[in-house]
Amino acid sequence: MSIKTTRRDFLKSGAALGAAALAGAPAWSAGAQAPSLPAGPSGLRVVASANGVRATDKAMDLLRNGADPLDAVIAGVNIIEDDPNDMSVGYGGLPNEEGEVELDASVMRGATHASGAVAAIKNIKNPSKVAKLVMERTNHCLIAGEGALKFAQAYGFPKENLLTEKAREAWLRWKEGLSEKDDWYPPAKDLPENLRTALMTYGTINCLAIDGRGDLAGVTTTSGLSWKRPGRVGDSPIIGAGLYVDNVIGAAGSTGFGEVNILNLSSFQIVQFMGQGMSPEQACLKQLERVADKARLHPRLHGSDGKPNFGMSYYALNKKGEFGAAMMTGPGKFSVHDGTTNALRDGAYLFKA
Ligand code: GLY
Repeated sequence: MSIKTTRRDFLKSGAALGAAALAGAPAWSAGAQAPSLPAGPSGLRVVASANGVRATDKAMDLLRNGADPLDAVIAGVNIIEDDPNDMSVGYGGLPNEEGEVELDASVMRGATHASGAVAAIKNIKNPSKVAKLVMERTNHCLIAGEGALKFAQAYGFPKENLLTEKAREAWLRWKEGLSEKDDWYPPAKDLPENLRTALMTYGTINCLAIDGRGDLAGVTTTSGLSWKRPGRVGDSPIIGAGLYVDNVIGAAGSTGFGEVNILNLSSFQIVQFMGQGMSPEQACLKQLERVADKARLHPRLHGSDGKPNFGMSYYALNKKGEFGAAMMTGPGKFSVHDGTTNALRDGAYLFKA
């Protein structure tokens, strides 16, 4: 199936790139030396999901002061992890079906091609910091559940209650609205029939950066799918799915329906597309097209019109400091600090809402 993108320029350049790749002449191959960034602050870039405006600002501030790009993006997303009003990440994130907050996070540093991640970790506010410790202080890539909590505690992280009153109330409304045949009674008779669907979210923050030396890094952190089964792990802590960094090519990350991303290893694939010469935006759109095609094979993943019935957004930053983002259904925004201005920008998209 061929899905019509809303971006004619993508179709044009995508076709051209495809032809180039088929001819064995990608504009810029993985493993080749990419053009280097201009020295100094003009080469600095930070890209994040739309909930990351404060993160891109903070990360840029640190980059300008010579911080390591991974430390910069982690400090950026820590602001969102700490914010009780962002109900998709860290403290205040929406809980699992039993009302417990479980968090996933991953980090990757391009300069050393190293990664770390934690999954389904409870009671730790900043899983991104723990993910970095997994990278630096173990020989593992991913630690999950009780083991992740014990690991964090061993390094002095306090055990905290992450369930805010607002998140508990939202969980309770979902629980009470699930069925009329159980003993969980909603306060009002007129709850919308689709309450369960309406409140289900899979928000996340992804943040990517490149420093003045052209070194790339990224982080993805989330409370995952709301009302999930305890122990469910999404794409955010899976390297290649929710985050991938190749210091020669670029970095990519995702927010959206994690299971689909795991199936398609989207972040890895987006970086590969950039390595074949696509721009960051083209690479994100190309992967959305691929994911949409695969979703048509699965009865639960598309509507009667054949369109994917889930949200998905990709963010990408290449070695040259070029950036882009694309959403399955748009319009949508993403946050960019280009070294001069920190602002939300329009992403590309496959389908118009
Ligand atoms: N992308 C976040 C999740 O599905 O858990």
